Amino acid sequence: MQLDDLDTPSIVVDLDRLEKNIKRMVTFTKECGVKLRPHVKTHKCPEIAKLQLAAGSTGVCLQKVSEVEVFAASGIKDIFLTNEIVVPSKIERLARVAEKTHIGVAVDDIEVARLMGKVFREVGSEADVYVDVDVGMKRCGIAAKHAPALAQQVARENNLVFRGLMGYEGQVNGAKTKKEQVGESAAAMRSMSAAKRGIKKKGLAVDVVSVGSSVSTWINARHPDVTEVQPGMYVFNDHVLVERGVATWDDLALTLVATVMSKPTEDRAVVDAGSKAFNFDTGRFPMAFEEKGAVMEHFSEEHGWLHLTGDARKLKIGDRMRFVPAHCCTMVNQHEKIYGIRGERVEKVFPVLARGKMS
Ligand SMILES: Cc1ncc(COP(=O)(O)O)c(C=O)c1O
Repeated sequence: MQLDDLDTPSIVVDLDRLEKNIKRMVTFTKECGVKLRPHVKTHKCPEIAKLQLAAGSTGVCLQKVSEVEVFAASGIKDIFLTNEIVVPSKIERLARVAEKTHIGVAVDDIEVARLMGKVFREVGSEADVYVDVDVGMKRCGIAAKHAPALAQQVARENNLVFRGLMGYEGQVNGAKTKKEQVGESAAAMRSMSAAKRGIKKKGLAVDVVSVGSSVSTWINARHPDVTEVQPGMYVFNDHVLVERGVATWDDLALTLVATVMSKPTEDRAVVDAGSKAFNFDTGRFPMAFEEKGAVMEHFSEEHGWLHLTGDARKLKIGDRMRFVPAHCCTMVNQHEKIYGIRGERVEKVFPVLARGKMS
């Protein structure tokens, strides 16, 4: 099958670029002496995770128990759930997966640590537990000064193994200049290092410090306290990451193919992909991959509205175009398959097996 044979809208990954992005991060993290545990919620495809593992990643991160169930059933053996799981039924599901799969999980609350210990003991399995520290994003995560008491509680729970710390400095993804990215990454690591020192003072070993977004990883992987990074989007990249200077246009692996379905005026065209195909969580529109004069200005559910200037005015009904998402992760979650292309040839189909797994 050829790229032009795909029905639209479809999402495609350029396999040469995917492989290059995977290799680049493996090489960089090896140079820095840290482990790479990619966040695979980006693609939700066990088959792509297997490519990352074969290239040298040491495990994967996921965000939801239902995602963990899918990846474990697909044969992924080492999974870190970098999120807070607080409901007994969900903890139990995770503990069941842990009977056969090496599981890590984040915690940011003492009562939840107690509950988690209880449920894992009842099921009879074990998990590595990481204290989640708020490193400035102000999402989940405990304040650094309270991390030692939480680590001690985890260490007291049979069936839970205190492994170390995690933090997600996602705020760095919003920092526009390199200087700001460096400053914010360093500030995040100051909180992390304070938490680590506090825990060590209590006599507990902190074997793992796991951090890293697709922007901050390029900075914090060199920090002496970091042992592992967990970036996700680097595998595809998107146009926000190009703007942040951590990828170039040539590193963009993931695009959506659409068809011009209407050309009401010379300077306006409509493609058959709107908010349901792309998502709009960043409030940013996708960009045309090739036709620089075609600018997406508006979405409705099934329509992408383009303003056309220059050569792009020549676009006509039936023409196919590719678009680069602003945020790759949420676009993927809208699709059942990612088509892997090499040049114009469709070489592989990756089922997005954990698509829509939200629980
Ligand atoms: C806890 C955690 N770790 C890692 C990542 C991956 O970071 P990025 O999406 O910047 O690649 C995310 C993304 O949201 C995350 O929430």
